[in-house]
Amino acid sequence: MGMVHVDEVEVDMVLDDDVKDINSRLLLAKGQKIQSKHIRIFKIWGITEVCVAGNHGREKIAESDIDPETLERITEDTKNIFKHVDLSHPAIKELFRISVLYRSRHGILHTEKNIPLTNGEDVKEHSITDVKKMIAQNRIKLPEMPSTAFELNEVVADPFASVHRIAEVVNKSPSLAALLLRIVNSSFYGFPSKIDSISRAVTLIGTREITGLALGISIVNVFKDVPKDILDMSSFLRHSLACGILSRILAANKNLPQTEQLFVCGLLHDIGRLIIYQYFPDQAKTLMNLAATSDNLLYQLENSCLGGKHTLIGKYLLKTWKLPLELEDNVFYHHNPSGAHHPVKATIVHLADIMVNALGIGSSGERFVPPLDYKAWDNLGLSPGSFETTIRHATHQLAALETFFQG
Ligand SMILES: [Fe+2]
Ligand SMILES: [Fe+2]
Repeated sequence: MGMVHVDEVEVDMVLDDDVKDINSRLLLAKGQKIQSKHIRIFKIWGITEVCVAGNHGREKIAESDIDPETLERITEDTKNIFKHVDLSHPAIKELFRISVLYRSRHGILHTEKNIPLTNGEDVKEHSITDVKKMIAQNRIKLPEMPSTAFELNEVVADPFASVHRIAEVVNKSPSLAALLLRIVNSSFYGFPSKIDSISRAVTLIGTREITGLALGISIVNVFKDVPKDILDMSSFLRHSLACGILSRILAANKNLPQTEQLFVCGLLHDIGRLIIYQYFPDQAKTLMNLAATSDNLLYQLENSCLGGKHTLIGKYLLKTWKLPLELEDNVFYHHNPSGAHHPVKATIVHLADIMVNALGIGSSGERFVPPLDYKAWDNLGLSPGSFETTIRHATHQLAALETFFQG
């Protein structure tokens, strides 16, 4: 049994696992012999690899494949990262297992950012800044919403917006249009032939999907000036993209319509952190310093250091920009989704964020796996057994997307 990339699949290979599309629809069942028409169908539906019987392809990674010393080191390291969650909970237990294997395979060791300690007075001085109050009283000027995003937001709200109108707005920003075309031509969508215009992309993928995607991308681009000594922006982007991709796949697993909405929520879930890093660099350094030298979760320290968490600061920004309420709600509740107005959607972003932190894909500054909202997890009704496939799909899509964002 082995995983074979779809370009290397040969006729008459036998499937050793069901092949399902992003919406969990069965394309070909385990035990079937693959024919050339099936390979075509896999490509059309964006399947990147399949599991076949016999001595083909790459084995699914197992503990026995890893050098015992490395495995022990990474297991200990991963236990530390998981210290704020209950390792006996079935979802966490499965995520821990996958995380150890993923980190071993990708050589991810838990590295702490080494920001020089500010002296005690600085810590005290910066930690009393009530960022939440400053934003609420308009004492700091939040970034302007990009004009493209503003227009896209209007289009999103208009159920009768035409294909022509959407293409017109997107094409006003040549870099956005180019990026969107690269995304729709990637394995994120897996179309068999090239899509060469925004109008065609809108027709094929849908009005809401394209506008949502374009809106998310243009918002992320606002935060280009985060000081490099506070945050590695490419690592933050990786964390956000992976969270968006996982949210979209989890939404598809739950058969939710409009999965692009969840992609955007995942992409923007930690946007409040970007405000902290870009607009309050001194306080951010103090905060990161405290987080690096204690065992506390970053988002809990935010409360004591800044008077509010990144979830609230993100909510203020999205409210100021008059973005859809659901987006604001999912961002605000991504650490405690039980309280959300749409708990299922908020729980999806919550779970995606936990997965990304557990795997160590990029970073938004947090060192630990954030606690799982157990009530929300129970209500979500997902099986931990689905995690491995979900994560495999997500990492493939991430590889396709991240080069576009960072290029
Ligand atoms: Fe967060
Ligand atoms: Fe996050």
